[in-house]
Amino acid sequence: MTLWGGRFSQKLDGLAWALNTSLSVDQRMALQDVDGSIAWATAIHKAGILTDEEHASISLGLDSVKKEFASGQFAFVPSDEDIHTAVERRLNELIGATAGKLHTGRSRNDQVATDFRLWMLQAIPELTSAFNNLQFALVEQAEQAGETLMPGYTHLQRAQPILLAHWWLSHYWALKRDVDRLNDLTKRVSVLPLGSGALAGTPFTIDRDALAKSLGFAEVSQNSLDAVSDRDFAAEYLFVCSMSAVHLSKLAEQVVLYTTAEFGFFELSDAFSTGSSLMPQKKNPDVFELTRGKAGTLIGLLMGLMATVKGLPSTYDKDLQEDKAPVFQATDTLLSILPVKAAALRTMTINPERMRSAIDSTMMTTDLADYLVAKGVPFREAHSLAGKVVRAAGERKVRMEEMPLEMYQAIGPFEADVYQVFDPFESINKRNTVGGTSLQSVRNQIKKIKGE
Ligand code: ARG
Repeated sequence: MTLWGGRFSQKLDGLAWALNTSLSVDQRMALQDVDGSIAWATAIHKAGILTDEEHASISLGLDSVKKEFASGQFAFVPSDEDIHTAVERRLNELIGATAGKLHTGRSRNDQVATDFRLWMLQAIPELTSAFNNLQFALVEQAEQAGETLMPGYTHLQRAQPILLAHWWLSHYWALKRDVDRLNDLTKRVSVLPLGSGALAGTPFTIDRDALAKSLGFAEVSQNSLDAVSDRDFAAEYLFVCSMSAVHLSKLAEQVVLYTTAEFGFFELSDAFSTGSSLMPQKKNPDVFELTRGKAGTLIGLLMGLMATVKGLPSTYDKDLQEDKAPVFQATDTLLSILPVKAAALRTMTINPERMRSAIDSTMMTTDLADYLVAKGVPFREAHSLAGKVVRAAGERKVRMEEMPLEMYQAIGPFEADVYQVFDPFESINKRNTVGGTSLQSVRNQIKKIKGE
């Protein structure tokens, strides 16, 4: 049975059917489809389309259908074109011809948009908690890192010393923005399209506000043409997924780098490493590489949907059926990455000595310039004099903290206290303004995160 066919004298070609059917994708919205139908039955009952008995029968029938889905008992048949057809077909088997009244005043166009939004409204909190779990892991690591130092980089060149905790938290804040974006999106997802009909609205006196409320939507759509064709929420969702995947890939790349023998800052636990089929010594960070790789796939999903909706004539076009697979794939991908990543970070070994030994005195050259600034030298000149110190030390092949005072004094107004600037803790703790890497600043960040 299809939900259409009256005007056709021939059955749909088998290959065309296979191309057209969306059941393999949209069966994932089964519970949402049934919930939408239960609410719709109430709305058309109130509008006088269903008698009390018909309404009761449809509601009971849909409850049974829902139970079948929830328990995995629901049996699809080959003629189920999509989830909407499957639900109505089953309802008909359970309650008979009254089932045929359910679709009054409704189209699959407003129905599918409703199901999809309902699905996303449950996916957002699920994703949020998976993100939160990883955020907690980052904060835990930051707390455990205490006063551990590490080199901070720009252009992947040693730049200035930072606290390892500061580095962990930098990833926390990026993910926080992703979670904020995800939750901000909720208000654009929580708009009910049902009651828009195929495109022009419904001719029955449907109380759309009550319908929205019963389904948990915050508001109703204001234009039926827009409502059945709007997929902005899906594109935005994919953007948020892609953006967060980019953040995750950035963290992943650094873990990959820092677990190399050359860096040796971190070591992954065996439970989150993989081996080589050929080289017995290998311990590979596949989990993190996959995070990096899948970010590319997620960006592709966003691009794909954008290209699908570009230039579509108003209102519903079958192209829009392509909207759900990328959203489901993006969600599944993130839900598979996030818990693994959290656990891999929690079980990683940190090597503070390696990080400490990667901090050399040249990384305090900015502090050397600031030292001169404190003595009244304009920063531009101080920058140049500190640069000369680096050059002089390089030429004489000595470390800056070992260069004799006379050599400093030959360059600028340095005094005996100059050697203090080469203490990386001094350097860190000077950066004590909000957002800086000082111990106090980092403690404040953690307090803020924990809402203390
Ligand atoms: N499977 C369709 C989709 O996902 C449902 C809407 C079908 N509407 C239609 N007019 N054929 O978009």
